[in-house]
Amino acid sequence: MNIIHEYYDVIDSTNNEIKRRGAEGDVPEGLVISAGTQTAGRGRSGHEWESPVNVSVATSMALHPTVAMAHVPRLTLIAAMAVASAIEQTCDLKTEIKWPNDIIVNKKKVCGILTEMSASHNKIGYVVVGIGVNIHQQQNQYPPEIAAKAISLDQALAQAKEDPTLWIHPDRMHKTRAGRKEVTYAIWDNFARYYEQFQKTEDLSGILEEYNCRLVNRNRPVRIMDPKGAYEAVALEMDKTGALIVDVAGEQKSIDSGEVSVRGLLGYV
Ligand code: BTN
Repeated sequence: MNIIHEYYDVIDSTNNEIKRRGAEGDVPEGLVISAGTQTAGRGRSGHEWESPVNVSVATSMALHPTVAMAHVPRLTLIAAMAVASAIEQTCDLKTEIKWPNDIIVNKKKVCGILTEMSASHNKIGYVVVGIGVNIHQQQNQYPPEIAAKAISLDQALAQAKEDPTLWIHPDRMHKTRAGRKEVTYAIWDNFARYYEQFQKTEDLSGILEEYNCRLVNRNRPVRIMDPKGAYEAVALEMDKTGALIVDVAGEQKSIDSGEVSVRGLLGYV
């Protein structure tokens, strides 16, 4: 994939910019739009996503996947793995993944991913994968509704100085400040590698091992928030379709991310 980076100081939403390019004509696969701040950043389920000036990563990539339309949501899991690897490569911090796509550092969420697709007549037009990563935020810079469960890479780097178990290599010299550009480039380089494999297999086999090693609550009790009624299970692993395999009273069950959410029994993770 040929990655082309474009940067705006201010934009409404990097996902929106890719959509505008898509609507104008042929937006090339690998076009990345990043911004210093977004005035109308969007999160999942219609929520707003705040990107204060030059404090976080707000970045989106245009794609023309050749896979079946039903498999496009798997790109969000690939993006999650790309972010987890980028944080490890650039900051030496341990990451975990809360299924399906929350990246966790020291038990808090550091990143959000919004994948959107334009399609007509059952044919994919383009896909945009948008990623927001908290980089330099301090605790008073989060919106109140997410403050208790959010963390930035700078906060995590400071915490790791006191708690060396947060480092991947505790014996190394470590940085104190993360770099927005460095993290952005690492994310998309990783993504391009995983994406190439995904286009061949259409499944998540290329990231499965790395993903499951980081799965938070693996082999631990979780609460499955099924709209038909919540129940307890033990989280086992993600399979190559992106479903979470859980054990419910000795029987294995596969759960789909569209249907339910999963909570650890102790707080957010
Ligand atoms: C979430 O709700 O967790 C997903 C948040 C996704 C935010 C990113 S920031 C870059 C891109 N542009 C947007 O407007 N949203 C995504």
